[in-house]
Amino acid sequence: MKLKNRVCVVTGGASGIGKAMCELFAAEGARSIVVIDRDEAGAQAVASSVNGHAEVCDLADGDAITDVLTRIENDLGPIDVLCNNAGIASGGDPLTTPIDEWQKQWDVNVMSHVHAVRAVLPAMLARGEGHILHTASMAGILTSHGNAPYATSKHAVVGLAEWLSITYHDKGIRSYLLAPLGVRTPMLPDQDSEWAKSAAGPLREPEEVAQQVVDAFDEERFLILTDPIAADWMEFKTKDPEKWLKGMRRLQARIDAASE
Ligand SMILES: NC(=O)c1ccc[n+]([C@@H]2O[C@H](COP(=O)([O-])OP(=O)(O)OC[C@H]3O[C@@H](n4cnc5c(N)ncnc54)[C@H](O)[C@@H]3O)[C@@H](O)[C@H]2O)c1
Repeated sequence: MKLKNRVCVVTGGASGIGKAMCELFAAEGARSIVVIDRDEAGAQAVASSVNGHAEVCDLADGDAITDVLTRIENDLGPIDVLCNNAGIASGGDPLTTPIDEWQKQWDVNVMSHVHAVRAVLPAMLARGEGHILHTASMAGILTSHGNAPYATSKHAVVGLAEWLSITYHDKGIRSYLLAPLGVRTPMLPDQDSEWAKSAAGPLREPEEVAQQVVDAFDEERFLILTDPIAADWMEFKTKDPEKWLKGMRRLQARIDAASE
């Protein structure tokens, strides 16, 4: 799939990976780019830099997502490419993370994808074509040390993306799963620390990740990993889950010791 003349929607497009995707989609000749974000100033800045449109929306609100996507289709025409990209990583240990914090991550990281898919999929199926990207994380395939809601919600995103690919690929719908390791954005705190570098693998720039997304669109390839080491880790986990868990526990113990 080429992006030329496509109508593209990117959630979380005001910053980081989403912003880089908007910029690259524009360079690839997309017809319209809609930046959806709760950060109004950021969304407007990115939208004006790509000659696109900004929509302010809290992606924890399912009705608001449906309304905004319906309005976009009425104003700009069918959405060809939907990138469910916004995410938050505000949790921690299940014992100390309040339930409403779990709910917030669930709503933004998972349910925003569900609401958006429900809004655009019927028309995509009627047209026999549609492209839907889900930004998960390697936290959704491996884990996220210290953040149970993030790891859990990102695993759910992986499950949703796989399910949609299995069910709708042969009806013309292409699903894409972006599972980054560390990316240098405001989301990755303390991004230059030794810990961030070792735990999250090699840090990528958002622009590199956007290029990997466009390459996957070109090939209509489902899985987008940001570094080859992620594939090794996936293989290791699948081959011997007990050994993988042992290694992850050892890493957790090192993290605990370092934070004491
Ligand atoms: N940065 C990393 O290392 C990394 C690694 C793996 C996965 N990811 C995933 O990549 C995606 C993009 O993250 P990023 O690193 O570019 O972070 P970022 O913080 O730079 O961008 C996230 C954007 O989402 C928006 N957003 C968050 N909650 C929202 C809400 N309720 N409503 C509307 N907008 C909201 C923010 O305003 C922000 O503009 C996320 O899903 C994240 O989980 C990031």
